Formats: sequence, structure tokens, C-alpha cells
Amino acid sequence: MSNIEYDTPELAEKYDRISNSQFENGIVLVDKLGINGGNNVLDIGCGTGRLALHAAGIVGKSGRIVGIDPSPLRIETARRKINDKSFDNTSFMVGRAEYLNGFADNSFDVAYLCAVFHWIADKKTALKEIHKVLKPGGRVGLTTGDKDNPFTLRQITNELFKRDPYAGQVNPDEDPNKPITQKELQDLFESTGYQDINITTKNTRLYFPTPQEVFDFIESSSFGTFLIHVPEHLRPAARHDIEKELEKKRTAEGIELVSNTIFTTAKKPLQEAN
Ligand SMILES: C[S@@+](CC[C@H](N)C(=O)[O-])C[C@H]1O[C@@H](n2cnc3c(N)ncnc32)[C@H](O)[C@@H]1O
Repeated sequence: MSNIEYDTPELAEKYDRISNSQFENGIVLVDKLGINGGNNVLDIGCGTGRLALHAAGIVGKSGRIVGIDPSPLRIETARRKINDKSFDNTSFMVGRAEYLNGFADNSFDVAYLCAVFHWIADKKTALKEIHKVLKPGGRVGLTTGDKDNPFTLRQITNELFKRDPYAGQVNPDEDPNKPITQKELQDLFESTGYQDINITTKNTRLYFPTPQEVFDFIESSSFGTFLIHVPEHLRPAARHDIEKELEKKRTAEGIELVSNTIFTTAKKPLQEAN
């Protein structure tokens, strides 16, 4: 369950406009995966399709990109782009990482999840599903937040919710954002049958003119689920307290937030172990 019902057309449109940091990491991920002309590629959690269209240019006319996302609103936005520009090697459909039954086994050269893995509660099932649809020797890649070294905004909320009046009222287990550590990622990829597992990290400093722009970024990136695990009567106070903490991060360039992204790539073995 990824709480997709909180998404709105406005959040989808905003995400498409302001998701440059995810897009830039996505370009690095696509590069690390060595996507080539003619490849069949599955973009899981494609959102509004920015990275899928970038990958479509790389695979060319002889390749294929399929983007799936549980949010029908984001898929609608992505589809509008291919109608406008007639990308005939690209399609978008509603779907989620945990159920890839609609795709033939051994059919993709590459599958990737850009800024998606932390939204998946059942990560093991997702990796097993991807394993099934990848060709032998096929590659999987992802970018995700680092649980051991969270995004500054997550550090702020983690600390805030330990204090009154939030302590005992906010259950972190109810937050749909489920980050993972590098160690957990390594174990998860190993236990689901991948090899050549490569894990690296990248720090990016993001600057925002106002706290409202931070909220716009996080709400559109989380399809409306930011603070959804906070009891409704405490949300206005939480926003106010977060704003105060954000102001403490102000530099000459704006409110500075550090995003620590884990990049993971791995391969499905050419031959299955017996
Ligand atoms: C931050 S956006 C990333 C979108 C896009 N990959 C990008 O790089 O811009 C996270 C996306 O994950 C999608 N998502 C949430 N739960 C998912 C799941 N279980 N399987 C696949 N995608 C999921 C959301 O609908 C949302 O579009």
C-alpha cells in the first residue's frame, strides 16, 4: 500500500516542474546501468515520465521503454507528453513494483527505480518480481534515501516527533516513507538472487528560498503523504515547528538541505544457481 489516493493533479504537475534533483540523479543512474540502443527498459515508479523520456532517447527506435506507476494522475501526465511528441518506443501504464505479472518473464534488459524504493513497503517482493521479468544477465538499478544518513528534512522531523506534543502521538511505523540502509540493501539484493551488487552514495545540497518551497518539494515528491502519519490536529503545529527548524538552515544561498542518495546496481545471473 503506498497511499496513492492522496495524490492530486496539482501535486503531479508540480512534481513534474520541480523534480530536477531526482531527474539529475536519474540521469546518473541510467548512465551507471549502461543502457544501450535497442534495450528493453522498465521504469518502475516512473512518475510523470521525465526520466523515461530521457531513456527513450538512448534506447532509440529499436528499443522500448515501459513506465509504470501506481498513480493514475502521474501516468496521465506522462502519457500527455508522448501524445505531444510521438515517442513510439515509449508507453506508460498504471502498475506497481510488487506486481509485475503483466510482463513476460525474462523480457527486460534493464529495470530501474529512481527515487521510488523508499515508497515500497514490501521491498523483497519487488526485487523478486523484477528478477522474474529481467532477462538473464539483465541489470537493475535504483536511487533511494539513506536511512543511516537521512535527508535534512527527515532529520528535522525524526527529531521533532521525539518531543512533546508529538512524542507518543506520532508512530514512525505509519510513515509511508520507508528508507533503507546500505547494509540492508546489500542483504536484500543478495537474498533475492542478484550478483555484481554495486552500492555508492552521493550528497547533494539543495537550496530553497522559503519553507513553503520546501513543503512544495516534499509534498509533490511524496504524492501528498508528507505528515500523513501525524494526527490531523497536530499537523498545523508540526508545519509551524518544521518551518522554524528550516529557517535555522538558511544560508546566503537559501535554506540548505542535504540529500544523501544511495545508488545501487546489480545483475540477474546469466545462469540461475541450482
Ligand atoms: C519521487 S517520485 C519518483 C518519480 C520518478 N521515478 C522520478 O524519478 O521522477 C516517487 C514515485 O513512486 C511511485 N510509487 C509509490 N509506490 C510505488 C510502488 N509500490 N511501486 C512503484 N511505484 C511506486 C509514486 O507514485 C511516485 O510517482
